[in-house]
Amino acid sequence: MLRSIHAVPYFYAVITKETIDRIMETARVEEVVGDFVSLKKRGSNYIGLCPFHNEKTPSFNVSPSKGIYKCFGCGKAGNAVGFVMEHERFTYREALKFIAKRYNIEVEETQRSEEQVQQDTVRESLYIINGFAQNYFHEFLLQADEGRNIGGSYFRERGLNEATIQEFKLGFCPAGGSVFTDAAIAAGYQHELLKQLGLSNDQKRDFYRGRVIFPIHSISGKVLGFGGRTLSADKKVPKYVNSPESEIYNKSKVLYGMYQARQAVSSKDECFLVEGYMDVLSLYQAGITHVVASSGTALTTDQVRLIKRYTKNLTILYDGDPAGVKAALRGLDISLEEGLNVKVMLLPQGEDPDTWVQKLGAEGFLEKVSKEKKDLIHLRTSLFLEEAAGDPVKTAGVIKEIAFSISLIPDSIVRSLYIKSASTTLGLEEQILLQEVNRLIRKKAMDKLGKEDRASAESVPDQTPTQPERKPHITFHFDEPQEKDIVRLLLENSNYELEGENAIVAILRNLEDVEIDNNLYKQVVDEYRKFYEQQEFLSQSHFINHEDETIRKLCLNLLQSPYELSDNWEKMHEVYIKDKSYLVQKDIVKSISILKLKKVLRMKEEIENQLRQLQQDEAASQDMQHAMEDIRQLQDFIRQLSEVTGTVVMPYTRNK
Ligand code: GTP
Ligand code: MN
Repeated sequence: MLRSIHAVPYFYAVITKETIDRIMETARVEEVVGDFVSLKKRGSNYIGLCPFHNEKTPSFNVSPSKGIYKCFGCGKAGNAVGFVMEHERFTYREALKFIAKRYNIEVEETQRSEEQVQQDTVRESLYIINGFAQNYFHEFLLQADEGRNIGGSYFRERGLNEATIQEFKLGFCPAGGSVFTDAAIAAGYQHELLKQLGLSNDQKRDFYRGRVIFPIHSISGKVLGFGGRTLSADKKVPKYVNSPESEIYNKSKVLYGMYQARQAVSSKDECFLVEGYMDVLSLYQAGITHVVASSGTALTTDQVRLIKRYTKNLTILYDGDPAGVKAALRGLDISLEEGLNVKVMLLPQGEDPDTWVQKLGAEGFLEKVSKEKKDLIHLRTSLFLEEAAGDPVKTAGVIKEIAFSISLIPDSIVRSLYIKSASTTLGLEEQILLQEVNRLIRKKAMDKLGKEDRASAESVPDQTPTQPERKPHITFHFDEPQEKDIVRLLLENSNYELEGENAIVAILRNLEDVEIDNNLYKQVVDEYRKFYEQQEFLSQSHFINHEDETIRKLCLNLLQSPYELSDNWEKMHEVYIKDKSYLVQKDIVKSISILKLKKVLRMKEEIENQLRQLQQDEAASQDMQHAMEDIRQLQDFIRQLSEVTGTVVMPYTRNK
């Protein structure tokens, strides 16, 4: 009976033109995309976070009327079929079949040519074989005596019902030795590929002999791999064995249960993260369906990004011992870095989510979690402080660590809220924590500058080089048109987030080492600075309605300048602008760099003049040394800035 499970013709058929036409007519791009990305309605279109690149503000657009999606951030675009191909790395055929299935369209296939058969990729075959294996194990669990008696009673004992077994396609691998491998080979699948997938070994023995099977799905339901649990109580036998990495299975990118959970995660706007397969299944069965598992390993950035497609609210249900908890909490920094709002629920000793939900029931469970979950940073702060037990050196270490975690948070407003509350918990002046966090942010930006290729210097504002270590301390008083431009930047960009940071904050940070000479412009910049230090942000209207008439006029003038990137202008000309924040970034980098370059060039000129005077004075060799050092540093600075601004700096001519 089992032999009838597989679908061999799949390999040799091609989809007819008529079927393709029907699929194209039926598929709605917003529905197909909506299965993978949570979309929000925006006018007649939909927007969401692009699944193809990492972003914090949505630039991914879906247009139902045009039938296409388009990301203004990374440029990816296409129709429903193209989306599925791109997203799932499907072939055209796979994507068509996938969409057909979604809309219950019957797929007509004709014979494929030899050539077409050869074009079938290994990937496609691997998916098919895993699909075959999933069905085999599942049917074996449900139908075969051995499966029912051994696997079935195990799952029943663990409290899982038919519906859950069905939903997650749980299975059982016969204990015989090579029962599954034999069946797969008889069905026409190559042993070589079975081996690649870790389903059988060199000797054609089944890898999962006598284990219950947990298929691991992609978010579109493709079978990527398996976990197999032993039923033996023997401690020497590994409790779980898993598929090896393969062409189609990359462990660090997958979360167990996401396929079944994604819609609930999106609608509940929260994702529960647990450790084990059984935890996912128990919670799901209890009706808590927004749950996924990391399968016993530390959370990776890719997994965090996967969650972030559906929600920003991550709740981690942790069942480790206290020592393990602390280590695990440190590992969660990546989720802060990705801008997630992370809560942690520490389960009572000896419980895991599986046992706990069975004890409390869903309602009791959810109530406990919502009452007792703690914010990640708060929990870390209090646990670590407790551990430091008043020891000043250890406490300083804790403060540094917490500051580091906070510095990873991309949103400046969220960051400032954490600084406020963490400083209270730490019994520390807010200003001190703020300084430490800012220092770390700057340091990171500088490290990045050091690491990155000079060619990429145009991309981020924090890459504008800062002053050399020992600052030549000469101030100049010129009226720079570039200074005016800085005011314009501040006025125009208060609504932008750049690399997760408010644009105003980015601009001010990059101006930290710049003296504004013009009094009027300095007033405006200083006002921004003053408010920024108090963690507040000024809007355009503050300046347009400013009490000082000169400032009011200046700002009104600047806001009417041709620099402004107008929404209408883009719409009218249907100009393809990749991502406005990208342009804003470029604008900021360029303006600040030109300003700095001008200032530095003047500084250099002045020092060179001094140097010429010093040369007349025998006694001044120490001063000369310093002056020459300053010049060297400035030259390096000029070189870096010219690269960013694209300005060619002429060698200094000695003629005045
Ligand atoms: P049950 O004992 O069946 O309740 O399993 P569990 O899901 O509660 O697992 P447990 O808490 O022991 O471990 C959590 C997760 O870690 C499991 O779901 C597996 O993904 C993984 N894991 C546990 N034991 C092993 C093992 O021996 N080998 C491997 N590779 N992974 C394991
Ligand atoms: Mn368990």
